[in-house]
Amino acid sequence: MQLSDQLSEAKSYIRSLCPLKPTVGLILGSGMGSFAESIEKQCVVEYESIPHFGTTSVAGHSGKLYLGTVAGVPIAALQGRLHYYEGYTMPQVVFPTRTLAMLGIKVLVVTNAAGGLRKKMKPGDFMVINDHINLFGDNPLKGKNLDDMGPRFPDMTDAYDKSLVRLALNCAKKVKLRATQGVYVGLTGPTYETPAEVKYLQKIGGDAVGMSTVPEVIAANHFGVRTVGVSCITNQAAGLSKTKLSHDEVTQTGKLIESQFKDFVTLLVQELGALHASR
Ligand code: HPA
Repeated sequence: MQLSDQLSEAKSYIRSLCPLKPTVGLILGSGMGSFAESIEKQCVVEYESIPHFGTTSVAGHSGKLYLGTVAGVPIAALQGRLHYYEGYTMPQVVFPTRTLAMLGIKVLVVTNAAGGLRKKMKPGDFMVINDHINLFGDNPLKGKNLDDMGPRFPDMTDAYDKSLVRLALNCAKKVKLRATQGVYVGLTGPTYETPAEVKYLQKIGGDAVGMSTVPEVIAANHFGVRTVGVSCITNQAAGLSKTKLSHDEVTQTGKLIESQFKDFVTLLVQELGALHASR
């Protein structure tokens, strides 16, 4: 079966459970799933039940699609993403993102946990992503182009929509969050970086590093979906602090900033909804 037919099946299945037409899509990163509590839910769909969806295997990623409203804006939120390091292929990693695009979202909010590459960044800071560097050595658009989705050679100049970067920074300010903007570097993981790799990532212009987001943003951009990305800096990258890195530290920092994150993303969704209602 062709990928486009698989996506149509996934979309039809979700529509048969829930007629809601989402304007904003969200991907909730490690430790940020509790945002789901602020959704007025109309449907909760387990990934397992959706045709052609993979299931997640990482602690802190449970694998549910929520459809409902946040501040009156119709949304679809993916709690639990599929990571490349779990062994999924790039098309599998971005299948849920493409499904959101098929459901008709106009804008995608991608969130993640990331290591801070700038010395000044501290755990609990936020970074609005203004660009990325793909170091996965792979690309979700490799292979035959899905012409009905987007072009063979998509432009990536505005992969992170500049006006949405400004909007996100304003939202952060309004909820009194410390947020900067910067470049996210995506690597496969699952190892954290070595200190030498961290120095290299700093040199090539990275501000934060993580193991996700890049594939989803490429797929959304291909589809013509505007994207805004937010990194929660859960730790200083390897070698920048005296402590060793652990997944526990990442999820614990996620927990500490949970309620701030919830306020921030709720406001962001509200403003994105207003923006698209007036388009
Ligand atoms: N490196 C890579 N991925 C991450 C990190 C990190 O330091 N922190 C959270 N995700």
